[in-house]
Amino acid sequence: MYDVIVIGGGVIGLSIAREIASGKSVLLLDRGATGEGASWAAAGMLSPLSEADEPGPFFELCRASHALFREFVEDLEQESGVDCGYSAAGLISLASSEESSRAFRRQYEWQRKAGFDVEFLSPGDVRSMEPLVTAKISAALFMPAEGSVIPRRLVNAIRESCIKRKVDIRTGVRVDSISKNAVRAGDAIVEAASIIVASGVWSPEIAGLDPLIPVHPRKGQILSLRMPAGAFRRMIRWQHSYFVPRNTEELVVGATNEDAGFDQSITPAGIGRLLADAQEISAHVGAYPILETWTGLRPATPDGLPNLGPSSIPGVYYATGHYRNGILLAPITAAIMAALVENRRPGVEMGPFSPARFKK
Ligand code: FAD
Ligand code: GLY
Repeated sequence: MYDVIVIGGGVIGLSIAREIASGKSVLLLDRGATGEGASWAAAGMLSPLSEADEPGPFFELCRASHALFREFVEDLEQESGVDCGYSAAGLISLASSEESSRAFRRQYEWQRKAGFDVEFLSPGDVRSMEPLVTAKISAALFMPAEGSVIPRRLVNAIRESCIKRKVDIRTGVRVDSISKNAVRAGDAIVEAASIIVASGVWSPEIAGLDPLIPVHPRKGQILSLRMPAGAFRRMIRWQHSYFVPRNTEELVVGATNEDAGFDQSITPAGIGRLLADAQEISAHVGAYPILETWTGLRPATPDGLPNLGPSSIPGVYYATGHYRNGILLAPITAAIMAALVENRRPGVEMGPFSPARFKK
């Protein structure tokens, strides 16, 4: 009998287990080896402002998590000895059309009014900050506080920290069903006072849940290039693509967002579009060697918001559906779930994320 069972060892499940383990006994179950799902595939942007079209509870959630991130990483690095590749170099968003420029103006105005650090840049400013950008620029925004991590390292760090905090991690265990205070995996039944479903896009496969979890996959194809040391220093967004510089010599170019079910193939159309966009951002990257191509399945919900909170089964909670922001949202999700299992108020507005919105 454990205090808490967490199902899923991606960035979300591991972060929750780590947070709760300070005061409770925690068992984490993963059907694979932990960290092999969407979390492995992520670009690692910590970017609440650049992805926000409007203010509201989701933006506030992202912002609250962003505010926790630096300390989250510092603690993890200290506990695990793993360098998470954290960077806070900021993000430049580029517009090349009149329509995008107008959208940037609206974004700038509400973000400035709300007190956020966002600046309009001239094309000359962009080129002095990132000299290799060759895109046609009609408008540009700079968000100096946006950051990034290397997700595969972050997940390793969280797992190491979980082990130090005595989380019992069992891999190769697929949970088949859940009932009040118990999970079943094959012939084994394990009991706990609280159960947290954090199994990403595969959550709907678990039987016994109420309400059903309406998470579906959104495929992301993504790649990395070897760049000359320091060629790009800040993240750059242009149309539906982005650059995330890592490790001084690696440039991640992401990502497609496709409705392709559980297919994880890498296609000429997907990678072709990314490579074409990358060369629109900077003609120089056409000469950079391709290091890696990969895909992941983002766990998306019908309304695009995460599914966070109690289910209809007493003691069973959901932490799924983080879609495009699961890396960014890991620390706040962990804090929320720890508060819920300890009967404390989470301190953020939870209504829009409640699983009850999917109750039929
Ligand atoms: P996962 O990482 O998928 O983990 C779920 C885990 O549950 C897996 O380990 C799986 O094995 C386990 N599991 C499933 N079913 C069971 C079962 N029945 N029993 C036991 N275990 C089970 N987010 C950002 O914040 N910034 C980004 O820049 C970013 N870029 C992205 C780029 C791409 C291409 C993609 C695909 C995603 C990106 N994301 C980004 C989104 C982010 O990756 C996800 O939101 C996040 O990883 C979701 O984490 P998770 O732990 O919920 O799911
Ligand atoms: N947040 C980046 C992505 O989902 O591709």
